[in-house]
Amino acid sequence: MNWELRLQLAAHPLAYPLVRGIGRIAPVVRVPKVGVVVSDAALAKEVLADTAHFTKTGPGSPADLWTPVVGPTVLLNMEGAAHAELRRKLSGLFTPRSVTDLCARVADEPMRRLRDDLATGRPVDLVTVVRDLVGAVICELVGLDATGAGRAWAAGTAITSMIRLGRPRLTPAQVRRGKAALGELTRPAAKAYAVGDPATVPGRMRELGLTEEEALGAVAAFVLTGTETLVSYIPRLVALLHDTGWLDRLAAAPDRMDDVVAEALRVTVPSPVMLRSVAADTGIGRVAVRAGDRVVIATISAARGHGAFDPDRPHPPAVRQLWFGAGPHFCLGMPLAYAEIRAVLGAVLSAAPLSVVARRAAVRVLIPGYERLVVRRG
Ligand code: HEM
Repeated sequence: MNWELRLQLAAHPLAYPLVRGIGRIAPVVRVPKVGVVVSDAALAKEVLADTAHFTKTGPGSPADLWTPVVGPTVLLNMEGAAHAELRRKLSGLFTPRSVTDLCARVADEPMRRLRDDLATGRPVDLVTVVRDLVGAVICELVGLDATGAGRAWAAGTAITSMIRLGRPRLTPAQVRRGKAALGELTRPAAKAYAVGDPATVPGRMRELGLTEEEALGAVAAFVLTGTETLVSYIPRLVALLHDTGWLDRLAAAPDRMDDVVAEALRVTVPSPVMLRSVAADTGIGRVAVRAGDRVVIATISAARGHGAFDPDRPHPPAVRQLWFGAGPHFCLGMPLAYAEIRAVLGAVLSAAPLSVVARRAAVRVLIPGYERLVVRRG
């Protein structure tokens, strides 16, 4: 069994085969207790772009899951003018210039250490490296000192590990646990907001005109979206390149990096499912849906349906970037995600050829990934 399949089954032993099996029946299938499952890329993009009929705030939507823990203004649980306005205010944090500066401040030193460790032949656990890096980036982004890096990761997983496909809402005990985990991060961020120093991101958010509630909501949104996705993806990218012989090919032709990164995103899909609620009666493909229905966009099936890992095969337009979403909620952090991916991959390639000396799949996590991926030069 290949490692990608092992990772999926370790995370979701029942849900993964179920979702992939449904995708093979038809592009859109109504499944009792789960919702209307969409497994076709073009239809998925239609749903994501159609805000008149589909929302992130109705029954069974992400708002049902997140709002009790993170509050009402976290982008991912907003719609309409308020959502567009908050995105506009935050967009300055993700310009190419801001992202390059942020990565230079936070990633240069740990990536230099990674290169040195690999160059001297030391075994390195890439999961730990990436966990520390993305935690530190989020801390810098939300104005916490780097000692909070571990806490950023822990808060993100404490919340996401409670989510299951067949569980549209969290229990009161889970809400309490999630709030406690997030409070570790939002308390210092609230302090930074109150002080208002524009050198800290909450201070800058205040300067940009965000209310305290919006700024703390943004902190929560970044923690939820910007940590586990990359801790899942980057080690899987390296493992996939190693297992398919592409690590050495890429080291010899680094201009292929963007094709390889995009193709590995298609195969790994670090955002395997997106949820929507039907706001007004309509249809998805041939299936009629009614207001209040839950829609499960199985990005994993839509993307993986296009075959095995092959960076030489261009992506059909319907599939392109689907793993970052589509429409008004398209991933705000994509430029930052790419910068972090390139930083780690660049350091790894500098030491090619590499071998994987140990690996273990993470169990019972929301986003499949490695618990450990140890690589060494040679
Ligand atoms: C490989 C890494 C990543 C993937 C695959 C990914 C994927 C996604 C997807 C699919 C969505 C849309 C979800 C939906 O419409 O239901 C999204 C939204 C979002 N992402 Fe990312 N993401 C990644 C990394 C990041 C990073 C590093 C950040 C920055 C901290 C970030 C910030 C956000 C935010 C703030 C939203 C909410 C946007 C909104 O609702 O308007 N993401 N992401």
